[in-house]
Amino acid sequence: MGTYQIIATAAMGLEALVAKEVRALGYDCQVENGKVIFTGDESAIARSNLWLRTADRIKIIVGEFKAYTFDELFERTKALPWEEFLSEDAEFPVIGRSHKSKLFSVSDCQAIVKKAVVERLKKHYKRNTWFDETGALYRIEVALLKDTATITIDASGQGLHKRGYRAEQGEAPLKETMAAALIMLTNWHPDKPFYDPFCGSGTIPIEAALIGQNIAPGFNRDFVSEEWKWLPSKIWDDARTEAEDLAKYDQPLDITGSDIDHRMVKIAQENAFEAGFGDLVQFKQMQVKDFTTTKEYGVIVGNPPYGERIGEKNAVEAMYREMGQVFSKYDTWSIYILTSNEQFEQLYGKPATKKRKLYNGSIRTDLYQYWGKKPPRNHTV
Ligand SMILES: C[S@@+](CC[C@H](N)C(=O)[O-])C[C@H]1O[C@@H](n2cnc3c(N)ncnc32)[C@H](O)[C@@H]1O
Repeated sequence: MGTYQIIATAAMGLEALVAKEVRALGYDCQVENGKVIFTGDESAIARSNLWLRTADRIKIIVGEFKAYTFDELFERTKALPWEEFLSEDAEFPVIGRSHKSKLFSVSDCQAIVKKAVVERLKKHYKRNTWFDETGALYRIEVALLKDTATITIDASGQGLHKRGYRAEQGEAPLKETMAAALIMLTNWHPDKPFYDPFCGSGTIPIEAALIGQNIAPGFNRDFVSEEWKWLPSKIWDDARTEAEDLAKYDQPLDITGSDIDHRMVKIAQENAFEAGFGDLVQFKQMQVKDFTTTKEYGVIVGNPPYGERIGEKNAVEAMYREMGQVFSKYDTWSIYILTSNEQFEQLYGKPATKKRKLYNGSIRTDLYQYWGKKPPRNHTV
């Protein structure tokens, strides 16, 4: 068993949630801008890929050093033990970024790192020619920040938001990682009703179902590092068996999504079916103003249109007003709405209990939180 420095990358603002998830997997971690760093063995690579709901991807740190000149970048990259990671047939494209560093030409940095890895591997595998690169993929990244180069290999492949269930999507789908984050920021637990009145392609209800039954979000997909020889299939088998053992398929759930657009409802149903929740999550066509329920102590999480498109603003603002009126009838429900509209509280007609700044892709948004009444002590939902 080896020991690896692992990075779970996080969207801006989600670092603390990713760190909470990493700790829940049993790894101490350190939080930095856009990433959470932890140490673990091979199984940590498999488990973090399988389990992290809010992280973007998993990377392994091969080395970290100061580099002020191309020579330093070359020599220090060449000094790293590449042969421990890359087989002779490895495919190893190099991508790069540079911020506040003397070495600012990203294309030059990429070419130098590539050359250094080739030199190292040529010596190790006793070759004079270039490599064919027909084998497993090891995507190397050189990231320079304030003259420190962090050299990593991507262990995820497709981003972790690709859970494998979203065959189709609407116009402005929420990333699955973000949807999971929104749910994790609420007080929902699986015994409570859960409702998304703007379900679109169903991302939020499906992520809630995955959380509710403690299903590993990566259970139904592959990861690029499954092809790596030094990460034996037993590691993956064990991690998947652990996930299977921890899943609570018998946990009853009361999760509903609705949308004004019947085409979206159909897409949401298909995606839920793909995720294995065909019967478990309910979807229906409905406008938010028609929301009504006899249930209590539920949680609503909604990602409505933001009204940023020309001609849409007035209609969206009128809908926010209607939403405020409808939801005001349900004081035991907790309501969480994500929007970029800074007038939201005035339109909704009530100041939020709490606001949390979040980025939906590049859009700055707030999660407006309206906490419902607490249930009495002896209450069962
Ligand atoms: C930003 S999208 C939601 C995307 C969704 N979270 C997903 O991941 O696919 C907003 C959704 O609100 C729906 N919508 C717009 N006005 C509505 C209204 N008055 N009542 C209910 N749904 C509405 C749209 O049809 C659209 O699917």
